[in-house]
Amino acid sequence: MDDTPRRFPAALPALRARTRAAGFIMSCEDRTGSLLTVLAGARPEGRILELGTGTGEGTAWLLDGMSAAARLVTVELEPAHQAVAREELGSDERVTFVQGDGGAWLEEYDGAPFDLVFADTWPGKFTHLDRALDLVAPGGTYLIDDLDPQPGWPEGHGASVERLLGELEERKDFRCVRLAWASGLLMAVRSPVD
Ligand SMILES: C[S@@+](CC[C@H](N)C(=O)[O-])C[C@H]1O[C@@H](n2cnc3c(N)ncnc32)[C@H](O)[C@@H]1O
Repeated sequence: MDDTPRRFPAALPALRARTRAAGFIMSCEDRTGSLLTVLAGARPEGRILELGTGTGEGTAWLLDGMSAAARLVTVELEPAHQAVAREELGSDERVTFVQGDGGAWLEEYDGAPFDLVFADTWPGKFTHLDRALDLVAPGGTYLIDDLDPQPGWPEGHGASVERLLGELEERKDFRCVRLAWASGLLMAVRSPVD
C-alpha cells in the first residue's frame, strides 16, 4: 500500500516555504501530520496540546482536523521558530501560542486536562514525562514521534528512547501501541475512568 497522505492543510505550502527558507528541519513528516489530523478530528470539542511548535507544520495538521469548537495550545521555546507559525496560523482563533520553556509551562499549568497531547520536544517526552501524562484526560491520547534511529542523533539518544518507551509501557493507566511507521511513533491512550 502506498501510505503517502492525499490531503494536506491549505496552510501547509506557505508554511513549508517559510520553514525551508528559515533552515528549520525538525517539522513532522506528512504521514505523522496526517495522523495528527485524524486524531484531532476524533475529538470534536477537544482540548489539544502540542509541545514544540517549531514553525507550525504540526500545528497546521492539527488545526486541519479540528472542529470549530476544539482548542489547541502550542508551546515553543524559540521565538523565531514560533513567529512563522504565529504569522501563518495566528488568525485562527482556535489556537493559542505560548512562547517559553515547555518544562516550565508544564510545571505551572493548572487548567483542565487535554484530550490529545502531541509531545514533540524534550519536555513532556524526555523530561517532565509524568507531568505531561498527568495532563492527559481519561480516554485521551498521548502521541510521540521520532523514535526510530536517525543519523543526527546525539550520543546516547538511542538509550534515552528505549528508557522512554519502557517508562510509557510500564504505566498501568495507559495502553500503548508502537507504530513502526513514519519516523517511529508511539501512541498511548489513558484508561477511561469506570
Ligand atoms: C521537533 S520540533 C517541533 C516540530 C513541530 N511540532 C512539527 O510537528 O512541525 C521541536 C521544537 O521544540 C523546540 N524546543 C526545544 N526545547 C524546548 C523546550 N524546552 N520547550 C519548548 N520547546 C522546545 C525546538 O525549538 C523545536 O522548534
